[in-house]
Amino acid sequence: MSNYSQNIWFNGEVIPFNEARIHILSHVIHYGTGVFEGIKCYNTPNGPAVFKLKEHMVRLHQSAENYKMSIPFSVEELCYGTIELIRSNSLNNCYLRPVAYYGYDTLGVHPKNCPVEVAIGTLDWGAYVGKEALSKGAKVTISPWKKYQSESFPASTKSSGTYLNSLLAVQDAKSKGFDEALLLNLDDTVAEGSGQNFFLIKNGIFHTNDKDANILMGITRETVLQLINDLGMEYKISNITKDDLFNADEAFFTGSASEVTPIRKIDEHTFSNGKAGKLTLKIQELYYNIVRGKEPKYESWLTYVN
Ligand SMILES: Cc1ncc(COP(=O)(O)O)c(C=O)c1O
Repeated sequence: MSNYSQNIWFNGEVIPFNEARIHILSHVIHYGTGVFEGIKCYNTPNGPAVFKLKEHMVRLHQSAENYKMSIPFSVEELCYGTIELIRSNSLNNCYLRPVAYYGYDTLGVHPKNCPVEVAIGTLDWGAYVGKEALSKGAKVTISPWKKYQSESFPASTKSSGTYLNSLLAVQDAKSKGFDEALLLNLDDTVAEGSGQNFFLIKNGIFHTNDKDANILMGITRETVLQLINDLGMEYKISNITKDDLFNADEAFFTGSASEVTPIRKIDEHTFSNGKAGKLTLKIQELYYNIVRGKEPKYESWLTYVN
Protein backbone atom coordinates (compact mmCIF):
# COMPACT_ATOMS: atom_id res chain seq x y z
CA MET A 1 0.00 0.00 0.00
CA SER A 2 1.66 3.23 -1.16
CA ASN A 3 0.02 5.36 1.52
CA TYR A 4 1.21 3.24 4.39
CA SER A 5 2.31 5.22 7.42
CA GLN A 6 3.89 3.80 10.52
CA ASN A 7 1.30 4.87 13.07
CA ILE A 8 -2.33 5.89 13.55
CA TRP A 9 -3.78 7.95 16.41
CA PHE A 10 -6.64 5.85 17.74
CA ASN A 11 -8.87 6.78 20.68
CA GLY A 12 -6.17 8.84 22.33
CA GLU A 13 -3.11 6.72 21.64
CA VAL A 14 -0.57 6.47 18.84
CA ILE A 15 -0.59 2.83 17.74
CA PRO A 16 0.93 0.85 14.84
CA PHE A 17 -0.97 1.17 11.54
CA ASN A 18 -1.97 -2.50 11.39
CA GLU A 19 -3.46 -2.46 14.87
CA ALA A 20 -5.98 0.29 14.09
CA ARG A 21 -9.00 -1.97 13.53
CA ILE A 22 -12.74 -1.77 14.13
CA HIS A 23 -15.48 -4.37 14.44
CA ILE A 24 -17.41 -5.29 11.29
CA LEU A 25 -20.69 -4.64 13.12
CA SER A 26 -19.71 -1.06 13.94
CA HIS A 27 -22.67 1.25 13.38
CA VAL A 28 -20.66 3.43 10.97
CA ILE A 29 -20.13 0.59 8.51
CA HIS A 30 -23.85 0.00 8.13
CA TYR A 31 -25.20 3.54 8.19
CA GLY A 32 -22.24 5.83 7.45
CA THR A 33 -22.61 7.39 10.90
CA GLY A 34 -19.29 9.16 11.03
CA VAL A 35 -17.94 12.68 10.66
CA PHE A 36 -14.51 13.55 9.39
CA GLU A 37 -12.03 16.20 8.31
CA GLY A 38 -9.37 16.56 5.63
CA ILE A 39 -6.36 18.64 6.68
CA LYS A 40 -2.94 19.26 5.18
CA CYS A 41 0.50 19.53 6.69
CA TYR A 42 3.18 21.24 4.57
CA ASN A 43 6.91 21.48 4.88
CA THR A 44 8.05 25.03 5.66
CA PRO A 45 11.45 26.63 6.32
CA ASN A 46 10.73 25.93 10.02
CA GLY A 47 9.79 22.28 9.51
CA PRO A 48 6.35 20.77 8.99
CA ALA A 49 3.28 22.86 9.84
CA VAL A 50 -0.43 22.06 9.77
CA PHE A 51 -2.68 24.58 8.01
CA LYS A 52 -5.69 25.81 10.02
CA LEU A 53 -5.59 22.81 12.35
CA LYS A 54 -7.83 24.24 15.04
CA GLU A 55 -10.47 25.38 12.52
CA HIS A 56 -10.72 21.82 11.20
CA MET A 57 -11.04 20.25 14.66
CA VAL A 58 -13.70 22.82 15.61
CA ARG A 59 -15.63 21.86 12.45
CA LEU A 60 -15.26 18.16 13.33
CA HIS A 61 -16.92 18.87 16.67
CA GLN A 62 -19.66 20.92 14.98
CA SER A 63 -20.32 18.13 12.48
CA ALA A 64 -20.60 15.62 15.33
CA GLU A 65 -23.03 17.86 17.22
CA ASN A 66 -25.32 17.86 14.19
CA TYR A 67 -25.72 14.11 14.72
CA LYS A 68 -25.85 14.36 18.54
CA MET A 69 -22.53 12.53 18.61
CA SER A 70 -20.38 13.47 21.57
CA ILE A 71 -16.67 13.30 20.73
CA PRO A 72 -14.78 12.17 23.84
CA PHE A 73 -11.77 14.41 23.04
CA SER A 74 -11.62 18.19 23.12
CA VAL A 75 -10.50 20.30 20.16
CA GLU A 76 -7.19 20.88 21.98
CA GLU A 77 -6.67 17.15 22.58
CA LEU A 78 -7.33 16.40 18.92
CA CYS A 79 -4.89 19.12 17.82
CA TYR A 80 -2.26 17.78 20.18
CA GLY A 81 -2.90 14.20 18.98
CA THR A 82 -2.44 15.32 15.38
CA ILE A 83 0.95 16.86 16.13
CA GLU A 84 2.00 13.82 18.15
CA LEU A 85 1.05 11.58 15.22
CA ILE A 86 2.94 13.60 12.60
CA ARG A 87 6.02 13.54 14.82
CA SER A 88 5.76 9.80 15.39
CA ASN A 89 5.49 9.19 11.64
CA SER A 90 8.44 11.55 10.95
CA LEU A 91 6.54 13.28 8.13
CA ASN A 92 7.22 16.64 6.52
CA ASN A 93 4.17 16.78 4.22
CA CYS A 94 0.98 14.83 4.63
CA TYR A 95 -2.77 14.76 4.37
CA LEU A 96 -4.50 14.18 7.70
CA ARG A 97 -7.80 12.38 8.13
CA PRO A 98 -9.48 12.70 11.53
CA VAL A 99 -12.68 10.66 11.79
CA ALA A 100 -15.21 10.18 14.61
CA TYR A 101 -17.87 7.50 14.32
CA TYR A 102 -20.31 5.29 16.13
CA GLY A 103 -18.70 1.96 16.96
CA TYR A 104 -20.29 -1.34 17.92
CA ASP A 105 -23.22 -1.77 20.28
CA THR A 106 -26.47 -2.01 18.36
CA LEU A 107 -27.46 -2.29 14.73
CA GLY A 108 -30.69 -0.38 15.21
CA VAL A 109 -30.56 2.89 13.30
CA HIS A 110 -30.77 4.79 16.58
CA PRO A 111 -27.19 4.45 17.84
CA LYS A 112 -28.28 4.21 21.51
CA ASN A 113 -25.15 3.19 23.43
CA CYS A 114 -22.75 2.85 20.51
CA PRO A 115 -19.38 4.22 21.63
CA VAL A 116 -17.99 7.21 19.77
CA GLU A 117 -14.53 6.28 18.53
CA VAL A 118 -12.00 8.68 17.06
CA ALA A 119 -9.00 8.14 14.82
CA ILE A 120 -6.52 10.25 12.90
CA GLY A 121 -4.64 8.88 9.92
CA THR A 122 -1.86 10.38 7.83
CA LEU A 123 -1.61 9.83 4.10
CA ASP A 124 0.84 10.79 1.43
CA TRP A 125 -1.71 12.44 -0.86
CA GLY A 126 -0.57 14.65 -3.72
CA ALA A 127 -2.76 16.85 -5.91
CA TYR A 128 -6.36 15.75 -5.27
CA VAL A 129 -7.85 16.63 -8.66
CA GLY A 130 -4.57 15.77 -10.42
CA LYS A 131 -1.16 17.41 -10.80
CA GLU A 132 -1.87 18.62 -14.33
CA ALA A 133 -5.12 20.26 -13.19
CA LEU A 134 -3.20 22.46 -10.74
CA SER A 135 -1.22 24.13 -13.51
CA LYS A 136 -3.39 23.67 -16.59
CA GLY A 137 -6.88 23.54 -15.14
CA ALA A 138 -9.35 20.73 -14.53
CA LYS A 139 -11.96 19.39 -16.94
CA VAL A 140 -15.28 19.36 -15.11
CA THR A 141 -18.73 18.10 -15.96
CA ILE A 142 -22.09 19.09 -14.53
CA SER A 143 -23.31 16.06 -12.64
CA PRO A 144 -26.62 14.40 -13.49
CA TRP A 145 -26.82 13.81 -9.71
CA LYS A 146 -28.18 16.81 -7.83
CA LYS A 147 -26.64 17.92 -4.53
CA TYR A 148 -28.59 16.71 -1.48
CA GLN A 149 -30.53 19.54 0.09
CA SER A 150 -30.27 20.96 3.60
CA GLU A 151 -33.87 19.95 4.24
CA SER A 152 -32.73 16.30 4.09
CA PHE A 153 -29.29 16.51 5.68
CA PRO A 154 -27.37 19.33 7.32
CA ALA A 155 -25.45 20.11 4.11
CA SER A 156 -22.74 22.08 5.84
CA THR A 157 -21.73 19.05 7.86
CA LYS A 158 -18.87 16.81 6.83
CA SER A 159 -20.46 13.44 7.49
CA SER A 160 -19.42 10.09 6.06
CA GLY A 161 -22.77 8.81 4.76
CA THR A 162 -23.59 11.94 2.79
CA TYR A 163 -20.47 11.45 0.67
CA LEU A 164 -22.35 8.77 -1.27
CA ASN A 165 -23.84 11.73 -3.15
CA SER A 166 -20.30 12.91 -4.00
CA LEU A 167 -19.27 9.39 -4.94
CA LEU A 168 -22.05 9.08 -7.53
CA ALA A 169 -21.10 12.44 -9.02
CA VAL A 170 -17.36 11.79 -9.27
CA GLN A 171 -17.82 8.24 -10.59
CA ASP A 172 -20.03 9.62 -13.34
CA ALA A 173 -17.50 12.39 -14.16
CA LYS A 174 -14.53 9.99 -14.34
CA SER A 175 -16.47 7.49 -16.47
CA LYS A 176 -16.99 10.29 -19.02
CA GLY A 177 -13.30 11.30 -19.05
CA PHE A 178 -13.58 14.39 -16.80
CA ASP A 179 -11.45 15.16 -13.74
CA GLU A 180 -14.26 16.28 -11.45
CA ALA A 181 -18.00 16.87 -11.13
CA LEU A 182 -19.91 20.04 -10.38
CA LEU A 183 -23.19 19.38 -8.58
CA LEU A 184 -26.23 21.61 -9.03
CA ASN A 185 -29.09 22.10 -6.61
CA LEU A 186 -32.68 21.07 -7.37
CA ASP A 187 -33.31 24.60 -8.71
CA ASP A 188 -30.29 24.30 -11.06
CA THR A 189 -28.13 26.80 -9.16
CA VAL A 190 -24.54 25.71 -8.54
CA ALA A 191 -23.81 23.87 -5.28
CA GLU A 192 -20.20 22.60 -5.25
CA GLY A 193 -17.78 19.94 -6.48
CA SER A 194 -17.75 16.41 -5.08
CA GLY A 195 -15.16 17.56 -2.54
CA GLN A 196 -14.58 21.26 -3.28
CA ASN A 197 -16.20 24.66 -3.15
CA PHE A 198 -16.66 26.60 -6.38
CA PHE A 199 -15.65 30.13 -7.43
CA LEU A 200 -15.95 32.02 -10.69
CA ILE A 201 -14.46 35.33 -11.78
CA LYS A 202 -16.21 37.85 -14.04
CA ASN A 203 -14.66 41.22 -14.94
CA GLY A 204 -12.13 40.86 -12.13
CA ILE A 205 -14.80 40.20 -9.46
CA PHE A 206 -14.82 36.86 -7.67
CA HIS A 207 -18.15 35.16 -7.04
CA THR A 208 -19.00 32.24 -4.79
CA ASN A 209 -22.11 30.90 -3.05
CA ASP A 210 -22.80 30.11 0.61
CA LYS A 211 -24.84 27.97 2.99
CA ASP A 212 -28.09 28.72 1.15
CA ALA A 213 -26.67 26.76 -1.80
CA ASN A 214 -26.28 23.58 0.31
CA ILE A 215 -22.50 23.71 0.41
CA LEU A 216 -19.93 22.70 2.98
CA MET A 217 -18.65 26.00 4.36
CA GLY A 218 -15.09 25.30 3.32
CA ILE A 219 -12.11 26.44 5.33
CA THR A 220 -10.19 27.05 2.10
CA ARG A 221 -13.15 29.05 0.75
CA GLU A 222 -12.92 31.28 3.83
CA THR A 223 -9.14 31.58 3.40
CA VAL A 224 -9.49 32.54 -0.27
CA LEU A 225 -12.16 35.16 0.51
CA GLN A 226 -9.75 36.79 2.95
CA LEU A 227 -6.91 36.68 0.39
CA ILE A 228 -9.10 38.31 -2.28
CA ASN A 229 -9.84 41.07 0.21
CA ASP A 230 -6.21 41.42 1.29
CA LEU A 231 -5.15 41.70 -2.37
CA GLY A 232 -7.56 44.63 -2.75
CA MET A 233 -9.91 42.75 -5.05
CA GLU A 234 -13.66 42.34 -4.78
CA TYR A 235 -15.93 39.37 -4.25
CA LYS A 236 -19.64 38.78 -4.09
CA ILE A 237 -21.47 36.00 -2.32
CA SER A 238 -24.77 34.91 -3.83
CA ASN A 239 -26.30 31.98 -5.66
CA ILE A 240 -24.62 31.11 -8.96
CA THR A 241 -26.83 30.35 -11.96
CA LYS A 242 -25.87 28.40 -15.06
CA ASP A 243 -25.82 31.73 -16.93
CA ASP A 244 -23.29 33.12 -14.43
CA LEU A 245 -21.27 29.97 -14.91
CA PHE A 246 -21.07 30.03 -18.67
CA ASN A 247 -20.44 33.78 -18.85
CA ALA A 248 -17.53 33.65 -16.40
CA ASP A 249 -13.97 34.57 -17.38
CA GLU A 250 -12.37 32.10 -14.97
CA ALA A 251 -13.48 29.35 -12.61
CA PHE A 252 -11.79 27.34 -9.87
CA PHE A 253 -12.32 24.90 -7.01
CA THR A 254 -11.11 25.29 -3.43
CA GLY A 255 -10.57 22.65 -0.78
CA SER A 256 -7.99 21.51 1.74
CA ALA A 257 -7.06 18.59 -0.52
CA SER A 258 -7.75 20.36 -3.83
CA GLU A 259 -6.14 23.62 -2.62
CA VAL A 260 -6.83 26.15 -5.42
CA THR A 261 -7.52 24.11 -8.56
CA PRO A 262 -8.21 26.09 -11.74
CA ILE A 263 -11.01 24.87 -14.03
CA ARG A 264 -10.34 25.15 -17.74
CA LYS A 265 -13.50 23.51 -19.01
CA ILE A 266 -17.03 22.71 -17.88
CA ASP A 267 -18.55 20.25 -20.33
CA GLU A 268 -18.17 21.91 -23.76
CA HIS A 269 -17.55 25.39 -22.36
CA THR A 270 -13.94 26.54 -21.99
CA PHE A 271 -12.65 29.30 -19.70
CA SER A 272 -9.69 31.59 -20.34
CA ASN A 273 -8.94 29.98 -23.72
CA GLY A 274 -8.86 26.52 -22.19
CA LYS A 275 -6.12 27.41 -19.71
CA ALA A 276 -5.88 28.11 -15.99
CA GLY A 277 -7.01 31.71 -15.42
CA LYS A 278 -4.49 34.42 -14.46
CA LEU A 279 -6.29 35.65 -11.33
CA THR A 280 -6.86 32.06 -10.23
CA LEU A 281 -3.14 31.37 -10.52
CA LYS A 282 -2.39 34.52 -8.56
CA ILE A 283 -4.56 33.30 -5.66
CA GLN A 284 -3.10 29.82 -5.98
CA GLU A 285 0.47 31.15 -5.75
CA LEU A 286 -0.31 33.19 -2.64
CA TYR A 287 -2.09 30.19 -1.08
CA TYR A 288 0.95 27.97 -1.67
CA ASN A 289 3.30 30.58 -0.26
CA ILE A 290 1.15 30.84 2.87
CA VAL A 291 0.78 27.11 3.53
CA ARG A 292 4.50 26.65 2.89
CA GLY A 293 5.36 29.25 5.52
CA LYS A 294 6.67 31.92 3.14
CA GLU A 295 4.22 34.68 4.10
CA PRO A 296 4.92 35.90 7.66
CA LYS A 297 1.67 37.90 7.66
CA TYR A 298 -0.32 34.65 7.75
CA GLU A 299 1.85 32.72 10.25
CA SER A 300 -1.03 32.43 12.71
CA TRP A 301 -2.75 29.99 10.33
CA LEU A 302 0.08 27.47 10.78
CA THR A 303 0.67 25.07 13.67
CA TYR A 304 4.30 24.00 13.66
CA VAL A 305 4.99 20.36 14.43
CA ASN A 306 8.40 20.88 16.09
C1 LIG B 1 -18.18 18.59 -0.40
C2 LIG B 1 -17.04 19.47 -0.05
N1 LIG B 1 -17.15 20.80 -0.26
C3 LIG B 1 -16.15 21.65 0.03
C4 LIG B 1 -14.95 21.18 0.55
C5 LIG B 1 -13.86 22.16 0.88
O1 LIG B 1 -13.75 22.30 2.27
P1 LIG B 1 -12.38 22.72 2.96
O2 LIG B 1 -11.87 23.89 2.24
O3 LIG B 1 -12.76 23.01 4.36
O4 LIG B 1 -11.47 21.54 2.85
C6 LIG B 1 -14.79 19.82 0.78
C7 LIG B 1 -13.53 19.30 1.33
O5 LIG B 1 -13.44 18.93 2.43
C8 LIG B 1 -15.86 18.95 0.49
O6 LIG B 1 -15.73 17.62 0.70
